[in-house]
Amino acid sequence: MDSKITAIAVYAPSKKITNAYFEQIIETNDEWIISRTGIRERRFAEKDEYTSNLCISAVENLLVENKDISLEGVDFIIVSTTTADQVMPSMASQVQNAFKIPNAGCIDIMAACAGFVYGLTIAKGLIAAGTHKKVLVFGAETLSKFTDYTDRTSCILFGDGAGVALVEPSDHPQLLNAVTGSDGSHGKDLYLSQHRTEVNGEPIEANGKIHQNGKVVFKWAIQTVSAKIKELLAKNDMTLDDLDWVILHSANMRIIEGVAGEINYPLEKMLCSIEYFGNTSSASIPLAYDIARKDGKIKPGNKILMLGFGGGLTFSGIIVVV
Ligand code: UT7
Repeated sequence: MDSKITAIAVYAPSKKITNAYFEQIIETNDEWIISRTGIRERRFAEKDEYTSNLCISAVENLLVENKDISLEGVDFIIVSTTTADQVMPSMASQVQNAFKIPNAGCIDIMAACAGFVYGLTIAKGLIAAGTHKKVLVFGAETLSKFTDYTDRTSCILFGDGAGVALVEPSDHPQLLNAVTGSDGSHGKDLYLSQHRTEVNGEPIEANGKIHQNGKVVFKWAIQTVSAKIKELLAKNDMTLDDLDWVILHSANMRIIEGVAGEINYPLEKMLCSIEYFGNTSSASIPLAYDIARKDGKIKPGNKILMLGFGGGLTFSGIIVVV
């Protein structure tokens, strides 16, 4: 059984945080942040606004923007997040309860910034197996609650947001072959600790905040993403010319530019959400899709390569026909 994304919607908290905010709390400036990352603004959740709230608001937007869609028959809910309200109950169960969806399997997945595409790949598998027919896939984060505001190399990057995709059966392939993987040897280069104080036998700062070895991840990202795009195209018997758009995880505009240069693809066909949302981890791909859709760029039948990468260090890519 083939599958398709019936609709995508997003939600971002209303509180805008400009680069000027960081000029007051750390030694930085607007010019450095824009030129080194491409970020002008990001959104922060309110104190009492959590990842589950963002998921619920994204579903509300999905229903408002798509009058022909209902939640009736949703039989699986997947939430990708590394910034859940709590470890359990899962965010998926919180969504299930908010909308009183009976008979839905509920899981959260942790693949960091690759998580939304991992979720699509799992949904595709459930539908292909014939066991499920209507799957909600979320990428949702409140990174601002796990940010170390004394670390100027990371705190300027992160923002909050959520995206949701409804995945259903299709009579022709619209979620094409995917690539997934991880290089766990880089675990210490991007982590959000819980109670263990080491990764791969090496000590980490276990303060419950995000830590990133930016330079290492940056280099790894450009090399890995470029190679995986080629692998994904080959797996689908396609070339770059077959694609209408590429949406990479919005970690840093310079990574997107670097990959565009590496694979020789026009930058204007790379969609992103970095400028006004910052790095929103697993929410960044649906946010980029939503911006482009509302700008009228994405047309029915377009082929879009989506590829996420991040903590793990994980990666996951898929080609979507909308
Ligand atoms: O989302 C998951 C995947 N994540 C990524 O892919 C992120 C990958 N990494 C990055 O995006 C970049 O490495 C960063 C944005 C994190 C950092 O940019 P960079 O160009 O790699 O900067 P850098 O760490 O090489 O630092 C360059 C200079 C340093 O000063 P010196 O040593 O040259 O004097 C830093 O101390 O910039 C300094 N610096 C800053 N200056 C002003 C670092 N952070 C800041 C800052 N404001 N916020």
